[in-house]
Amino acid sequence: MIGSSNPAPGLADGGLRFPDGFVFGAATASYQVEGAAGEDGREPSIWDTFSRTPAKVWNGDTGDVACDHYHRLDEDLDLMADLGLHAYRFSIAWPRIVPASRGAVNAKGVDFYSRLVDGLLARGIRPVATLYHWDLPQTLEDAGGWPARDTAAAFGDYAAAIGAALGDRVHTWTTLNEPWCSAFLGYGQGGHAPGRTDAAAALAAAHHLNLGHGLALQALRAVTTNDPEYSVTLNLHAIRGEAEAVRRIDAVGNRIFTGPMLRGVYDDDLLADTAHVTDWSFVRDGDTGIIHQPIDVLGVNYYSTTLVRSWDGQGEKQSSDGHKPADGGTAWPGSDEHVEFLQQEGPYTAMGWNIAPDGLVELLTSLRDQHPDLPLMITENGSAFEDRVDPDGVVRDAERVDYLRRHLAACHQAIEAGVDLRGYFAWSLLDNFEWGYGYDKRFGIVRVDFDTLERTVKDSGRLYRRVARTGVAPA
Ligand code: FCB
Repeated sequence: MIGSSNPAPGLADGGLRFPDGFVFGAATASYQVEGAAGEDGREPSIWDTFSRTPAKVWNGDTGDVACDHYHRLDEDLDLMADLGLHAYRFSIAWPRIVPASRGAVNAKGVDFYSRLVDGLLARGIRPVATLYHWDLPQTLEDAGGWPARDTAAAFGDYAAAIGAALGDRVHTWTTLNEPWCSAFLGYGQGGHAPGRTDAAAALAAAHHLNLGHGLALQALRAVTTNDPEYSVTLNLHAIRGEAEAVRRIDAVGNRIFTGPMLRGVYDDDLLADTAHVTDWSFVRDGDTGIIHQPIDVLGVNYYSTTLVRSWDGQGEKQSSDGHKPADGGTAWPGSDEHVEFLQQEGPYTAMGWNIAPDGLVELLTSLRDQHPDLPLMITENGSAFEDRVDPDGVVRDAERVDYLRRHLAACHQAIEAGVDLRGYFAWSLLDNFEWGYGYDKRFGIVRVDFDTLERTVKDSGRLYRRVARTGVAPA
């Protein structure tokens, strides 16, 4: 059974009762946790290449071992069951499945995810699979990467292959995780793999990610047999500040994806803002129709807010947009030269991101207003803080506990305000490889000792276990 069989949502024993059936899960991503980078036919991804490039990742860290989840699958499945998780959101490593890009399916790679899905189902945990959480096969990058149209077609083929293998058991399929990061941090700003800094290529990448989303949904629908749910996960920016600057960042930060995916259009203001960067000739007749596929639920990743102001090009520009700075490049093609990103009020997490649970309520209610019939799911929310195992074996991560508590309360508030919010996934189940920050930033509700790989449930994990088991969060 999913969720609690509690009466109507509201206050319960001084706590916040969530609706019956509300899903409490936890999330990870393949490159961040699996390790086993060269095993069982897995070929390199762009993150293998990027993390091996000097000065790209903190301390030269790589995902070669990560949490060794690939070899500790049963232990981690038991951990999830012990935490009372209703669902587990994981991603599938494309280079494990179709190593030679368009070649034969790698049976050993498929087998790992098949065992993962079976292990979840055996423990009563709902499998929520993401097809792409940033680990593009390096061979496809070498052939042009996401700025090249063929990559979208290859993604559709990959979706068909993995859908045929797992399409009788996965409960929810998510095509992409945060395509904004893939396109704009990967090809525009350069702080993420593959580390390119080309604004026009970043916009082409965004379109081909959108196209890949549509093709993947078509492919999955053709092969699945268990009537799953379909979704995509976006890191929609909760933008505050001066109206014209908000409009610009909403266009290139949010509507560049929600426009074609949910409404079948690229908005005119987005095209106008970016006209000096690209002529958008990479959009072909029929593309927006392919992208505009029905979805059952929209995944929303939320960490903090974005504060903007219009900039006239005079004086020193503020650029606190919360992303790891790289040399040159821009994460905001067409609008970088018009917008300042202002430092926001604290408190902050170890990432320097401001803690603003009210921003989550704003984002959810505004999505409800824009797309009233679309169910929503928080597919990531969490916080990085330093922590340690005390001599008595306890991890007292009080700041993470507080962050979790306040954001669960924000979810509850949004539900009370009429938002159709179906679930919440804590980021992350485990401390893991945090992209450009390597192992320096810990987001887990379970601590991982990266020397011994030992797992220790933190106080935040203990709180979450109580919430998942009872359906009641602390007020
Ligand atoms: C999100 C990513 C996830 C993790 C969190 C902290 O942008 O989807 O993999 O790194 O941020």
